[in-house]
Amino acid sequence: MKLNIAVLPGDGIGPEIVEQALNVTKAVCEKFGHELTYETAIVGACAIDATGNPYPDATHELCMKSDAVLFGAIGSPKYDNDPSAKVRPEQGLLAMRKKLGLYANIRPVNVFPSLISRSPLRADLVENADFMCIRELTGGLYFGRPQGRSEDGNSAVDTCAYNREEIERILKLAYEYAGQRRKKLTVVDKANVLETSRLWRQIAQEMAPSYPDIETEYMFVDNAAMRIIQWPSSFDVMVTENMFGDILTDEASVITGSMGLLPSASVGLHTSVFEPIHGSYPQAAGKNIANPLATVLSAALMFEYAFGLMEEGALIRQAVAASMEAGCVTEDITVNGQTAHSTTQVGEWLVEYIKK
Ligand code: IPM
Ligand code: MN
Repeated sequence: MKLNIAVLPGDGIGPEIVEQALNVTKAVCEKFGHELTYETAIVGACAIDATGNPYPDATHELCMKSDAVLFGAIGSPKYDNDPSAKVRPEQGLLAMRKKLGLYANIRPVNVFPSLISRSPLRADLVENADFMCIRELTGGLYFGRPQGRSEDGNSAVDTCAYNREEIERILKLAYEYAGQRRKKLTVVDKANVLETSRLWRQIAQEMAPSYPDIETEYMFVDNAAMRIIQWPSSFDVMVTENMFGDILTDEASVITGSMGLLPSASVGLHTSVFEPIHGSYPQAAGKNIANPLATVLSAALMFEYAFGLMEEGALIRQAVAASMEAGCVTEDITVNGQTAHSTTQVGEWLVEYIKK
């Protein structure tokens, strides 16, 4: 099969972790006889520095003509500490999601047995956790207008807006995933307070009878935040608004032992993007210490979701689990006094495993 991908390393640790994920991708393609072609482009702070635009047109064109996008991370302390900056790296990511129509971000949360002791939760709470968060990605608080500051600078507004079409398409996708899994969908909202949440809940109630084999559960977001740490194994698929999903998936990611482990797939109207859920971790940039596994696992999702290559995805996941069992891991996931390995050592270990 021909795989034509766009590679967007981004900022901070992005280039280092994407390099490893790309090496793994190449090794898998070689092993299974796929023809891989790829082109690299800029996004985020590095794109602002180079062009003034965090998502340059050339990057968008490359994404549009590719079969999949492998993306690292964006963000820079230069902008985080300057709330008055007019152009921000994050706008690049938001523009990419919007322009590619990526309305759903799929974030699977599962626990690697060898890492349970790294979880901040007790082993008995976390060992059976296996769920998927489906985060709406092109609406809600992130994109609603008006958004901005008053002329005197002393008041600000953000808007949470959703329409029926946006809600229906994400719920439909969530039901489809629930149907392929353990057949339970948790619709997470704040319907006791927010009008947009009441619309979500109403539409979910209208759609639920069309999926009679799936149990639909409704939960307020504050309660869901609590349940993720109290009883994570009670979830199968959860679906939620953009910002709720952003927050809940950071929470969910650490119960697995490290944030450096969670991959994601952003899917929708055009080319899908595969990206780790963590950020650009600027403190670690250039030090060869960042955990590449979330990006490597995102490459596994890419094989599966973008190309339907399930065996290839499974092999990557198997390699990742084996690297942990062999103790070839970065500092964030060492257990029992294991020696920390570098980003490149982990990547090389994975490539060797795949070649075998
Ligand atoms: C994520 C990130 C982004 C988001 C930031 C970098 C804009 O936190 O992908 O979860 O909030 O969506
Ligand atoms: Mn986030």
